[in-house]
Amino acid sequence: GADVEIDISKVEPGQLIRVIWRSKPVWVVRRTPELLASLSAHEDQLKDPNSEVEQQPPFAQNPYRSLKEEYLILVGICTHLGCSPQHLTDGAFAQYAEGVAEGFFCPCHGSKFDMAGRVFESVPAPSNLQVPPYFFKDDATVVIG
Ligand code: FES
Repeated sequence: GADVEIDISKVEPGQLIRVIWRSKPVWVVRRTPELLASLSAHEDQLKDPNSEVEQQPPFAQNPYRSLKEEYLILVGICTHLGCSPQHLTDGAFAQYAEGVAEGFFCPCHGSKFDMAGRVFESVPAPSNLQVPPYFFKDDATVVIG
C-alpha cells in the first residue's frame, strides 16, 4: 500500500531521518528534552503558534505538533511554493531567528520554521509545515499514512 513503516529504534536524540511517503519527503526528528523545553521561548515570533489555522491531523494541534512529544514528524515541503527547507542545527538557525538555535530554513524565499514546524512571522510561507497522518504501531515503529 501507500503507507510507509519506519523503524525509529535507532534514531538518536537530536537526529533527523528522511523517508519518502507518496513521493513526498517526510522528516522524523527525535527531539531532545532541551529542544522541547526551548519551544515555548519564541512563540511570540510565530504566525500560528497554536496551530489554529493549519491543516493537520487533530492529534497534532498541541505545542509539539505531534503524537509523542519526542518525535516530530513533518512533510518536508515549504508551505510557500514547495521548496525543500534545510535543517539548521547547533546555533546555525540563530542567524535567521534571534535566540533560536535550531530550525528549518527555506533557501528559496527565506521562510523559517521552528522544531515543531511552526512558521515564523515576516516570511512568505502562510502556514506551518504539514503534519502527515501517522500512528505508532509499537514503541519502535511509526506508520505514515
Ligand atoms: Fe519556501 Fe518560498 S518556497 S520560502
